[in-house]
Amino acid sequence: MKITVFSQISIDGKLTLGAGNSSKDLFSLLNEQDIEFIHKFRGKVDGIVVGKNTILTDNPFLTNRYEINKNPVRIIPTSSMDIPLDSNVLTDDGRTIVVTTENGKDMEKIKQIQELGKECLICGTDSVDFKELCVQLENKYGITSLMVEGGGFLNWKVFDKDLVDEIVLMQLPIIIGGGTNVTLVDGEGYEELTTTKKFKVVEMQQQENYTLMRYLKAV
Ligand SMILES: NC(=O)c1ccc[n+]([C@@H]2O[C@H](COP(=O)([O-])OP(=O)(O)OC[C@H]3O[C@@H](n4cnc5c(N)ncnc54)[C@H](OP(=O)(O)O)[C@@H]3O)[C@@H](O)[C@H]2O)c1
Repeated sequence: MKITVFSQISIDGKLTLGAGNSSKDLFSLLNEQDIEFIHKFRGKVDGIVVGKNTILTDNPFLTNRYEINKNPVRIIPTSSMDIPLDSNVLTDDGRTIVVTTENGKDMEKIKQIQELGKECLICGTDSVDFKELCVQLENKYGITSLMVEGGGFLNWKVFDKDLVDEIVLMQLPIIIGGGTNVTLVDGEGYEELTTTKKFKVVEMQQQENYTLMRYLKAV
């Protein structure tokens, strides 16, 4: 499985305008061409993963609106299954897989999601086991590339398991600040340089509204 973490971040690494807020406001800093870049990137991958909180705050569609029939499968990890049934990823006609855990599964909610024509997977005991999920996605669905679009909690989970091959950042030239705000990677973090996850810069491009930065996993 090839995994790319893809995100719009501020200079100070924040993902949104304050904890609990939608990141959609940040899109007003981008032009049509920039949005097309994001959507077409989605067209290059088999699946797109966002955390449950992002569904709650942003209610995204996670589609590619610039190319026909090139939408990635939406994959939503959640141990609580606390996803509103009227979320766009559950009500539109695209493909969505909600991934939950043995201890979090709610058979009634699974049934309701399936009645909406969406799929559910159980993977892991308390937390979704992303290594196991990658195996299931490849074996059951033929998914071999994933774009992880955050938020900071989900990103931590995939970095911490050493699953990220590539990072693509659209860095917006703004400072947001806020000690409790969501950043590119949250979670517990590392306190030793030896345990940090290491990447090498392979691309840096100055665009009108942002700086594009691309990193590959250091080997
Ligand atoms: N700028 C950008 O590019 C961008 C992109 C995406 C999101 N955002 C922003 O990021 C914020 C949300 O970030 P966040 O860090 O609070 O939340 P998040 O990462 O979107 O979602 C976290 C939730 O996802 C579920 N989850 C993730 N990994 C899991 C795992 N391994 N096992 C089980 N469940 C898992 C859990 O749900 P349960 O609680 O159900 O277990 C967890 O509480 C929003 O403000 C959004 O606007 C910005």
